[in-house]
Amino acid sequence: MAALDEATRTVPCKDSCDGHTSNVRGEPRLEPPGDACGRGEQQKAARLRGVLAAMFGADAPAPSEVLVVRAPGRVNLIGEHTDYNEGFVLPAAIDRDVTIAVRGRRDRIVRVHSLNYVESVEFALDHISYDHDHPWSNYVRGTLKVLADSGAPLRGMDMVVAGDVPAGAGLSSSAALEVATAVAARAVAGQVAGGFDLDDRALALKCQKAENSFVGVNCGVMDQLASSLGKAGHALFIDCRSYDCEPVPLPCDYPIVICDTGVRRGLRDSEYNLRRSQCEEAVMLLQRRGMPVRSLRDVSPGELARVEPWLPEAVRVRAKHVILENDRVLLSVEALRAGRVGEFGRLMVASHASLRDLYEVSCPELDAMVEVALDVPGVAGARMTGAGFGGCTVNLVHEDAVDEFRRTVLTRYMSKVNPSRLSLEPQVYVCRAEDGAGLIPPEG
Ligand code: GLA
Repeated sequence: MAALDEATRTVPCKDSCDGHTSNVRGEPRLEPPGDACGRGEQQKAARLRGVLAAMFGADAPAPSEVLVVRAPGRVNLIGEHTDYNEGFVLPAAIDRDVTIAVRGRRDRIVRVHSLNYVESVEFALDHISYDHDHPWSNYVRGTLKVLADSGAPLRGMDMVVAGDVPAGAGLSSSAALEVATAVAARAVAGQVAGGFDLDDRALALKCQKAENSFVGVNCGVMDQLASSLGKAGHALFIDCRSYDCEPVPLPCDYPIVICDTGVRRGLRDSEYNLRRSQCEEAVMLLQRRGMPVRSLRDVSPGELARVEPWLPEAVRVRAKHVILENDRVLLSVEALRAGRVGEFGRLMVASHASLRDLYEVSCPELDAMVEVALDVPGVAGARMTGAGFGGCTVNLVHEDAVDEFRRTVLTRYMSKVNPSRLSLEPQVYVCRAEDGAGLIPPEG
């Protein structure tokens, strides 16, 4: 996902409250935005409306026609590298998002200004091509192209985009941009007769297609579904074969704490694709043995011992991770529904070990971050989250332990890792599970 890194660099939002995030030197950062501080969504919307008027003011229609939409990033709680095996995942949408102010145009031109990049692009809906000079814009272009190709009656638009999902951190900044774009396009098309009525799930699938076919990143469907369909206070249990999604309540006394290792690695695209092909190879080899399987999702943990000898070592360990990780997701859903936080935490720890030892997508910094977190009293579970090779860990920390966690974890982490490998300063973000994408209603 090197392309992800380019998608939405974090620029602290000037309207946000400060103090929720501290870096290793203890300096306050202007993060996170909005609701986490009890205000802000409306402020952010008002700011973007102001920029839209200032940037594209001359041919502006009445201000009431400007719409503002948001789509969140996501953190995956458990179920890693299972989505492209038609398996199970359990992500949550988080209170960091991409926000777009948008208004329809009378022609078929799209103009987009990114506040993060301080760059603008312009293109025609009927000739959308890849933009090598403004890689961030390809998430917008790709989404609109896929929608247009599927027959959605799009309108030209002026858009101002701002995001505060850390980029390249495994928190799906690019899915948030795609989903926000799709929701904006649907809302603008709906302002005139003959809009289109793709539901949120269908929009998410179009966004995944855009990332696969236009941006060229072969991701699964988890990120876009989580950004689109997330529910406040809940994780989303997704069956990546049927795309059925069920909210699962999260314990209110355990906020989601995300630790960014500060490591960004370009290896991710090639290693991700390699893992995918190893999983496909496993399926092909099992089919040759006569097993009626379409994907690794179809192999149960009980069948593992029988099938393992049929697979070459490199493929065996990948398949074993996927088969057991699917089972861990099912057990996690049961544990969370029954309020067994400790059990869920243990499943997270087992997931990390499997990603480290079998799927081999962790790195020394992710391992160190998990290790120091698990030493802090009040931490029920910790694991790497997202594709791996850097980025973030996700931690289940009792609310009474969050301050201590924040104080100790980065210091201990820095004493364990080689600072020269860090591209950014490590961070701790305390997050809430939020609703998926939608319109921000105008104030009053
Ligand atoms: C990335 C991809 C997802 C998923 C995860 C690993 O985030 O975008 O589709 O495969 O990696 O679980």
